[in-house]
Amino acid sequence: MTENTIFTVKVKKIINECYNVKTLIFNMKEIHGKNYITPKPGQFVMVWVPGVDEIPMSLSNFDGEGNWSITVKNIGECTNAMHNLEPNDYIGIRGPLGNFFKVLNDKLSIIYLIGGGIGIAPLKCLSKILIDNKLNFNIIEGGKIHGDLLYTDDFNSKIDIISNIIYCTEDGSSGTKGLASTVFEQELKKYSNKELKRVVVYCCGPELMLYEIFKLSEKYDFEFYASLERMMRCGCGLCGLCSLDPLGLLVCKDGPIFNRETLSKIIDFGSYKRDYTGRKISFS
Ligand SMILES: Cc1cc2nc3c(=O)[nH]c(=O)nc-3n(C[C@H](O)[C@H](O)[C@H](O)COP(=O)(O)OP(=O)(O)OC[C@H]3O[C@@H](n4cnc5c(N)ncnc54)[C@H](O)[C@@H]3O)c2cc1C
Ligand code: FES
Repeated sequence: MTENTIFTVKVKKIINECYNVKTLIFNMKEIHGKNYITPKPGQFVMVWVPGVDEIPMSLSNFDGEGNWSITVKNIGECTNAMHNLEPNDYIGIRGPLGNFFKVLNDKLSIIYLIGGGIGIAPLKCLSKILIDNKLNFNIIEGGKIHGDLLYTDDFNSKIDIISNIIYCTEDGSSGTKGLASTVFEQELKKYSNKELKRVVVYCCGPELMLYEIFKLSEKYDFEFYASLERMMRCGCGLCGLCSLDPLGLLVCKDGPIFNRETLSKIIDFGSYKRDYTGRKISFS
């Protein structure tokens, strides 16, 4: 199996998460048999919808039976085609691809998962691993409106291991009114300097949110990992579309997850992404 091989799988189940988000579940063990590789949280797959396109999607879950999930927000041609799929339709899957969230198996860590919008998807996958490892953690989930908040029933049912769940919306229609980064800074003020050394933050969402939380990591000096999104064509290091200046790091190959030290050297981070032609466009 290589990162260039597309495996055709049947969509087993579809879950309507909210008005514009669906989760698709398919089984990879049936396809790979004894060559099956268990994915890791934070990794992504390239999903091919026949006749439409092939696009990157983070894994939002996987289980011991080889069932993998992707959670798809309908924003354009290919994601719309995914929303029109029915159980038993076929899609192509390449992966798992990219690096993953490293879990520090340290019970003293004060762990935060901070997700904005659809960025909560790979963090849902990470939450499963933390729960399996009996590591307590906190979640901050932000959305523009109440209807954007995903997996709330699932998170709320795990309140014994999730120390604290904070929902926030920009319009105040659910949870705290405000941005996830602002809410998180309030949280940080609870901790002493000694405790801040034990804070570990895993983050995914809009890049300006990631950048704000990165700045907090520099200010308060805590460990920080962010999953970045860029346009992808090959997903495996061939086309260069997802490269980050000035280091030339590739989001598909060296990422999508980068630590604080690396992010501090990437001038594109929080500033520029590339369109499909490779031209740089500003985030603001
Ligand atoms: C590593 C990685 C993991 C991802 N995980 C998920 C996930 O779990 N769930 C999910 O819903 N989406 C995820 N995405 C984003 C997803 O790949 C894009 O939304 C998708 O490619 C859009 O395809 P489309 O054909 O529907 O949209 P298009 O018709 O191609 O574009 C619609 C609009 O979205 C913009 N756009 C398209 N692709 C991207 C992109 N990669 N980054 C930023 N803007 C884009 C276009 O500029 C255009 O304005 C991920 C992206 C990456 C790189
Ligand atoms: S998408 Fe082609 S190099 Fe990353």
